[in-house]
Amino acid sequence: MNIDNLYRIKLLDNYVSNVNEILEEVHLHHSSAFKPRSEESEFYKIKTICGKGATMYSIMYHFFSPRLKELCVETVDFGKFPRPDEIVINKYPPGSYLGKHRDGAGKYWKFQLIFLKSTRSHFTWYDRENNAHLVEEIPGRGLEMPVNIIHESTVIAPDEEDKYSMVFIWR
Ligand SMILES: [Fe+2]
Repeated sequence: MNIDNLYRIKLLDNYVSNVNEILEEVHLHHSSAFKPRSEESEFYKIKTICGKGATMYSIMYHFFSPRLKELCVETVDFGKFPRPDEIVINKYPPGSYLGKHRDGAGKYWKFQLIFLKSTRSHFTWYDRENNAHLVEEIPGRGLEMPVNIIHESTVIAPDEEDKYSMVFIWR
């Protein structure tokens, strides 16, 4: 059996088809709209297993323009599910990362990560033997995984462009 299936990691190819429009709208927001995740409290706080923390930046849904709110979901087929309750756009400039962690149980019942822009792939999840599995970050590709899976985004190298990803959360 494919390791992704064994751990119930779902790859959703061509999940979001208007990636360029989303990024154009994101760039219209002032860069100060992106807050350092290391300073977040409560819901968005990330406690890493390695103690390394997170140095990426995020804009939360409530700071989005009405147009950005619409763009993020308008090409997605959510099937039997409602639209997500929260959307987050993450920005990883060179040098930034999200340390190894497991998302807090009880914070949400469904979670999807969508790759928007990557020079190289960084998203890695870990199986029970602590083997790393790197996911190819194809723009518009979605990823859904169970809450107990340990994952990280490795350091963006100096020669890479800023990485962007989007998160859909249902709670
Ligand atoms: Fe996470």
